Amino acid sequence: MFDYTFSERMSALQPSAIREILKATAGKDVIAFSAGNPSPASFPAAAMAEIAADIFRDNYAGALQYGITEGLPSLREQTFDRLKAKFSIGREFDRLIITSGGQQAIELATKVLVNEGDTVICEDPSFIGALNAIRSYRPNLVGVPMDEEGIDVAKVEEILKTDKRVRMIYVIPTFQNPSGGVMSLARRKALLELAERYNVMILEDNPYYELRFAGEHIPTIKSMDDKGRVIYAGSYSKIISPGMRIGFCVAPEEIINKMVVAKQVSDVHTNQFFMMLVSEYLARYDLDAHIKGICDLYGKKCDLMYSELSKYNNGYFDVRKPEGGLFMWLTMPKGNGAELAKLCAARGVAVVPGSAFLADESKISPCIRLNYSLPSDEDIVRGIKILCDTAAEYLSGK
Ligand SMILES: Cc1ncc(COP(=O)(O)O)c(C=O)c1O
Repeated sequence: MFDYTFSERMSALQPSAIREILKATAGKDVIAFSAGNPSPASFPAAAMAEIAADIFRDNYAGALQYGITEGLPSLREQTFDRLKAKFSIGREFDRLIITSGGQQAIELATKVLVNEGDTVICEDPSFIGALNAIRSYRPNLVGVPMDEEGIDVAKVEEILKTDKRVRMIYVIPTFQNPSGGVMSLARRKALLELAERYNVMILEDNPYYELRFAGEHIPTIKSMDDKGRVIYAGSYSKIISPGMRIGFCVAPEEIINKMVVAKQVSDVHTNQFFMMLVSEYLARYDLDAHIKGICDLYGKKCDLMYSELSKYNNGYFDVRKPEGGLFMWLTMPKGNGAELAKLCAARGVAVVPGSAFLADESKISPCIRLNYSLPSDEDIVRGIKILCDTAAEYLSGK
C-alpha cells in the first residue's frame, strides 16, 4: 500500500468516540443511549411528502437548479422573522445565512475568525462536532469548566486578561451537549460583558433552545447583543429533521459576508430542495405546535429515564435532571467513564464516555452521556437496569 501523508490540520482530529462505540456495537442488538438523534416519531413525514410532491410538480427547476450562497430568500426571511418575533434575535446590523446544518455555521465562523495559534475558549466538556470543526483550524483550544450556572466566567476573564490571542468563546448556553445544563441569565450577561470589554466574539450555538419541556425560558445571549459581539448558530435539525441539513447563522453583516465567501468555497449553497421544503412547511403548518408535540414526547422520555435511574441508582451516579434537550449527564463518584462505557457495550448498552467531549481528550472523566430521545420506552427500562448493574460491579472493584 501507498504511504499516505496527511495534512497537519488533520492530525489534531481523532475519530469521533461516538462513532467508535457505534462500530463496536455494529450488527449487535444494542440499546443505543449513545446517539444524539431526534426520534423519528418527531419527523413531520406526511406533511413533507405532500410538499415534496407539490415542489416537483410545480417548481422542479427551482429545486434542481443552482441557488444562491446566502440561501433561499423566502426561508431566510421566514427564519429571521421568526427569530426576531419569538426570541428578539437580530438587530439592524445583523444578517442571516442558511447553512448546511448548525455544524457548518460553527465551521464557517471559525474559518473566518480564527488563525492558527489563536485561542478559542470553550466549555469543558462540549460538543465534539464543534470542537473538531474548531480544531481543524489549529487554534489553542482552552476548555473552561462549568457548574450548575454554566461556564465559570471568572476563569474566562482570567484567560482573557493574560492571553491576548483569544478570538472566540464557543458556548452552548441552553441544554448544553453533553451536560444538558443551562447557563444562568447572570452568566450570559457576564459573558457578553467580557466579550465587549476584551474585544472577542461569542459563538452561541443553540440547536436545542426550543426543546424545553420544563422550567422557564432564558433569553439567548444574542438577544442581548446590541454591539455585534455574538454569532448565533441555529438549526432545524432538532425541530424538524437533521437529515435535511438545514441550519442558519445570524451575525453582523460584515461577518456574514465573509461567511458567504467561505461557504462558496465549501459547498456553494445549502441543499435547494430541502430549503424549499422547510420554507413551504413553515408557510403551511404551525411549527410552534409541532415543536410542542416534540417537547411533550421528550419530556415523557426524560421522565421515564430519570425515574428508572432513581429505582436502581444506588449511589453510582450523580444525575442532573434536564429541563429540555436530548441528553442526561451522569457523574460517578470515582472511576473512568470510558471503562464503564466499554463494559456496557459488551452487555449491549451503548453510552458515550465523558472524555470524548473534553477539550483535552486524553484526560479521564468519571462521566457518561445518555440520550433519551431515540431509544424506545422498553429499551430505556431495560437499558437503565443493565447500566446500573454494570456500574455496581464496576465501582465495587474500584
Ligand atoms: C451542540 C450542537 N451544536 C450543533 C449541532 C449540529 O447540528 P446540525 O448540524 O444537525 O444542525 C449539534 C448536533 O448534534 C449539537 O449537539
